[in-house]
Amino acid sequence: MSRAGPSEFNIPDAAGVYAFMGAIAFQASSKAVDMNSSNAYLQEDTMIRKIRQAAVIGSGVMGGGIAALLASAGVKTLLLDIVPFDLKEEEKNDPAARNRIAKTGLDTVIMTQPALLMQPKDVDRIRIGNLEDDFDKLAECDWIVEVVVENLKIKQDLFKRIEPVRKAGAIVSSNTSGIPLKQMSEGRGAAFKQNFLGTHFFNPVRYMKLLEIIPGAETLPEVLAFMADFGERILGKGIVWAKDTPNFVGNRIGVQGMIKAMQLMVEMGVSIPEVDALFGPAMGRPKTAMFKTADLVGLDTMAHVAKNTYDLVTEDESRADFIAPEFIGKMIAAKMLGKKTKVGFYKTDLTPE
Ligand SMILES: NC(=O)c1ccc[n+]([C@@H]2O[C@H](COP(=O)([O-])OP(=O)(O)OC[C@H]3O[C@@H](n4cnc5c(N)ncnc54)[C@H](O)[C@@H]3O)[C@@H](O)[C@H]2O)c1
Repeated sequence: MSRAGPSEFNIPDAAGVYAFMGAIAFQASSKAVDMNSSNAYLQEDTMIRKIRQAAVIGSGVMGGGIAALLASAGVKTLLLDIVPFDLKEEEKNDPAARNRIAKTGLDTVIMTQPALLMQPKDVDRIRIGNLEDDFDKLAECDWIVEVVVENLKIKQDLFKRIEPVRKAGAIVSSNTSGIPLKQMSEGRGAAFKQNFLGTHFFNPVRYMKLLEIIPGAETLPEVLAFMADFGERILGKGIVWAKDTPNFVGNRIGVQGMIKAMQLMVEMGVSIPEVDALFGPAMGRPKTAMFKTADLVGLDTMAHVAKNTYDLVTEDESRADFIAPEFIGKMIAAKMLGKKTKVGFYKTDLTPE
């Protein structure tokens, strides 16, 4: 393993330590190299891997948090999101209007308390853009992490677009809560799959220690070792290795518990504050308990994750635990999604005041 200083970064204070570490170089493989080989597997396998620039696709709750973590670790980060569907005619060629969703995501990163960035000025390492005008910039990135809505088709389409753009050796990962990697990478070529894995961060990204790493069937061991090392030493996470099974580890247990508690609340006529009083510190659990956690996650995301799992665990004796009660659907329809829309089970305000 070798390390290199980041010549393009000039950060004069403590953040420089992170910047230095962020540009760590990792000799991925000591295997003998046939440089004349036309085999993409060998060429990508034996590269020296570095993460100098990353791209985060999706600027929502998790994408914003991951971009903030990377920027705080000294990594230049491109944060992309879709062009808004509802642009007025006069806005269609206006870059600011086209980047509105990513800009909103970045503004949320800046405003969120407790802070997602280690230092406010870390935000300077984040550039925003959109998935139509800035897609080619992904070719500059060493790691592309997909953090879009929990929908198989949307993720599959995105990976299909990324495949011809990513540079050789660039790592591509998904922050999916539990959609199988096998399905997301279906149709992609060998080189893509060898550099593809799951990197499942938890919310809020800066504060949650857990990072699940999910190998795909074809992910190169060197890629996995590199990402585990980067996640642990550069991003400060604790790695849990997960298999490519529905919802991996944390969510397989967590979402089942959450939906089951909601079902029982209705059945037993218990109130939301009562459930949260029970499932918080009184049981040695975080003070966000059940419903504040649901607000933090986003009710839409929670419902997607529960539904995806229900569809996938056809043989599970407790499959019915993943059926969200009817009131969840009504809240989603009313845009009561939790913290991201400032109202869910509780009302939340993002500003410190
Ligand atoms: N919220 C959590 O606590 C949490 C935790 C871990 C993992 N995840 C996973 O992270 C991913 C993102 O979740 P989130 O909570 O940030 O969701 P979010 O709703 O906050 O953000 C989703 C983003 O996807 C974008 N998007 C919507 N349609 C799109 C399309 N067609 N193409 C590209 N982008 C599109 C949206 O503009 C938005 O920025 C999901 O896979 C989710 O399961 C969420």
